[in-house]
Amino acid sequence: MIVDTHCHLDDHRYDEDLETVLQRAREKGVKRFIIPGADPRTLERAVEIAQKHEDVYFAVGVHPYDMEHYDREYLESFVDHPKCVAIGECGLDYYRLPEDPSEAEAEKVRQKEVFVDQIEWAKALKKPLIVHIREASADSLALLEEHAGEEGGVLHCYNADATLLKLAKRNFYYGIGGVLTFKNARKLVNVFPQIPQEKLLIETDAPYLTPHPFRGKRNEPAYCTYVAEKMCELSGLSREQMETLTTTNVQRLFSI
Ligand code: NI
Repeated sequence: MIVDTHCHLDDHRYDEDLETVLQRAREKGVKRFIIPGADPRTLERAVEIAQKHEDVYFAVGVHPYDMEHYDREYLESFVDHPKCVAIGECGLDYYRLPEDPSEAEAEKVRQKEVFVDQIEWAKALKKPLIVHIREASADSLALLEEHAGEEGGVLHCYNADATLLKLAKRNFYYGIGGVLTFKNARKLVNVFPQIPQEKLLIETDAPYLTPHPFRGKRNEPAYCTYVAEKMCELSGLSREQMETLTTTNVQRLFSI
């Protein structure tokens, strides 16, 4: 079995056909799903999906793009739910900072505050983190090294920055998604063998980052199989070994 450790099933792009999307995934062997909490405005939807489906779990947090909606008190009302397995998706994203240097600096400061608050919160709750890092490796590494608890977490791996591999020793895992299948994914393909196998997870980030050969279309958890195939090709593991490995990793990190 495969676990999609990062799929935004609360996204409005699944409003029409979520049941079919889940069914297609299950038929491909994708049997558990984790919805990261990115935008608090759809958190209730995530909880509703997790309550309806035994195989769906969720996390509570705020993505850097949605940080103006960060309200810790509101989020706290969801963390005791039995299906809440992590804090995040939180992190740093310097990809689209304002052009004005002082505005950009202020944005970075604010992102770091919101990120640290969520790291500390996860530590207090003894829950793992789901971390998004884009063009912000050095700052993210510094903050995680300083603040993260023993529970660690998972990093989205599309930046493929080898410096972040240091965090494996701090119990961080690496979520491998569709980017690995892209024709121009040389960076991630090169970093991939350096990731300790006991720290590999599979994710889609659906509806984003659709793997080859569907790149450009809406992504969905069933496409985990394309990621798994590529991981097998690069590691020499059989499909069965890869599924056992990554599912064991999921169970260790998220206790599901
Ligand atoms: Ni995401």
